Amino acid sequence: MIRKIISVALSAMFSLSGVCSCTASTVETNNDIDMKTDGKKLVVFFSHTGENYNVGVIERGNTHIIADMIADAVGADRFEIVPAKPYPVNYNECIEVAKDEKQSGARPAINGDVKIEDYDVIFLGYPNWCGEVQMFVYTIIE
Ligand SMILES: Cc1cc2nc3c(=O)[nH]c(=O)nc-3n(C[C@H](O)[C@H](O)[C@H](O)COP(=O)(O)O)c2cc1C
Repeated sequence: MIRKIISVALSAMFSLSGVCSCTASTVETNNDIDMKTDGKKLVVFFSHTGENYNVGVIERGNTHIIADMIADAVGADRFEIVPAKPYPVNYNECIEVAKDEKQSGARPAINGDVKIEDYDVIFLGYPNWCGEVQMFVYTIIE
């Protein structure tokens, strides 16, 4: 079976114009795959708790909510990406760290590991940070 990675960049559903530049979301689909029955599925996601733009302090992020919905709908396992070094809870401080890491092309370490070779379909979910995927998501992709 063809292994697929379905990448969902969750940019803000809220109005963020003037705050940061946005990237286009990428959703790859393959109509040949029956999500209910075909192969073993995994949802890999990162979601930030703490202070987020316009919504205050949250305990469960948007990507986490969507990741749970997808995993429940298709019967997938879940792997939450947990950066080894936690990111600031404060939104502006988090922006600064994200910008620095983007600029330097950092590959921050993550906790845990997952055997992706065991899966046929992998959903990858992450929020849009400064018009970019989090650098530690590249760590797991690579
Ligand atoms: C550090 C940081 C940078 C962000 N940069 C952008 C951005 O450039 N464009 C955008 O549309 N949203 C941006 N956002 C908003 C998040 O993408 C959005 O709130 C997302 O739904 C958060 O997902 P989460 O709750 O799963 O972490 C940023 C949020 C954070 C914390």
